[in-house]
Amino acid sequence: MMTTIALTVNGQRTTVDAPPMKRLLDVLREDLHLTGAKEGCGEGECGSCSVLMDRGDGNAELVNSCLIPVLQAEGATITTIEGVAKPTTPPPHPAMLPRTRRSPVRHLHSRHDPRHPPSARQAPAPHPRANPGRSRRKPLPLYRLHAHLRSRERRRNQNIKADSS
Ligand code: FES
Repeated sequence: MMTTIALTVNGQRTTVDAPPMKRLLDVLREDLHLTGAKEGCGEGECGSCSVLMDRGDGNAELVNSCLIPVLQAEGATITTIEGVAKPTTPPPHPAMLPRTRRSPVRHLHSRHDPRHPPSARQAPAPHPRANPGRSRRKPLPLYRLHAHLRSRERRRNQNIKADSS
């Protein structure tokens, strides 16, 4: 036997033709296609089928919809997880956010931190193993390196001749 039951679900008045002892959970999922409430245990233990139910006295209470026949929801206001999750106002579009001269990412970098102007900044400390004298020296050009090696070879040959005589 089917019964017409009127109820308000997530702020929308609706009527459902269902057997009076059909579980509210099944009416929500099968007839109203609100699948946010899930069947876990089916015995009122887990709470995965929870919905807010206001029977008209202004006090919404959390109930297990797997234990409630839809007849008991006659005239009630039901709020499912879909109704709770529904945003009242959409988040602002990024173009609507106030603009700053610099992007937030640049502010995060210490070089661009407006709280510390460049004059207040100190030069970075040298690396402990750095050798400033050597690092300033230019690398030897290749022709000079060859000349140095040739003269060293010449000196070595002269020393060998001097030792043998
Ligand atoms: S399904 Fe577990 S409490 Fe309803």
